Amino acid sequence: MDQVITETKTNAAPSITPDQLDMLVEEADRAKMKAYAPYSKFRVGAALLAEDGTIYSGANVENSSYGLTVCAERSTIFHAVSNGVRAFQAIVVTTDISESFVYPCGACRQVMSEFGNFDVYCLRPNGKVSRTTLADLIPFAFSPSDLSKGQGKGEEDEPVKKPRKTDHLRTRTARGCMKKGAHVFDIRNPRLRMYCRNR
Ligand code: THU
Repeated sequence: MDQVITETKTNAAPSITPDQLDMLVEEADRAKMKAYAPYSKFRVGAALLAEDGTIYSGANVENSSYGLTVCAERSTIFHAVSNGVRAFQAIVVTTDISESFVYPCGACRQVMSEFGNFDVYCLRPNGKVSRTTLADLIPFAFSPSDLSKGQGKGEEDEPVKKPRKTDHLRTRTARGCMKKGAHVFDIRNPRLRMYCRNR
C-alpha cells in the first residue's frame, strides 16, 4: 500500500524516497507481528534504514517484571548497532492505533539521538503517516559532547581535606576498637601515645 504522509512536523526535507518508505513500512509491520506484549497488548514494530541501505527491524519485548520492558525503537537501534551500524537515514514506527499518531517515548528519543538526527515516520494502520525528525522530537537531548564538557569537573569541585594526624585514630574509634577515654598507640609510631576521648 502506498503510504500517505498526512502530517509533516518538521521543516527538514525528507531523507528517503516513497519507495524506501514503503519498504520500511512493510518491515515495521512485519516486526510488529513479533512484538512480545502480553501485558499491555500494545504492539509496536519499527524498521530502521541505515546509511548503507540496510534495514534493521525490531519490536517491543515486555517482561513480567514490567520495568524491564524494551520498546520497539530501542530493540531496533540495538539490533543495528550490535551489527556494527551507527549511521541512519530514517526509522518507521508502527502500532495498532488508528485514531491518532503514536510517537516514540522519551527514553527512545534519547537513545536514538545518540546516533545523530534522522527522520522518524509514525504510521497508523490505515496507512496515514506522520513525518518528523529526531531533532524536532528531542530538541535539547543530552549528547556525547555534553559528557566531555564535564570530564573531571566533579573531582575539581570536591574540596580536598588535609588529612589530620589523628585520622587513623578516629577510624579506630569508629570501629569501636577503643574504649571510652583510653590511651591509644599509633601503630606506625609506638612512641606516640595519645589520650582520646570519645564524642
Ligand atoms: N512502547 C514502544 O515499544 N515504543 C514506544 O515508543 C512507547 C511504548 C511499548 C512499550 C510497552 O511494551 C508498550 O508499548 C506499552 O507501553
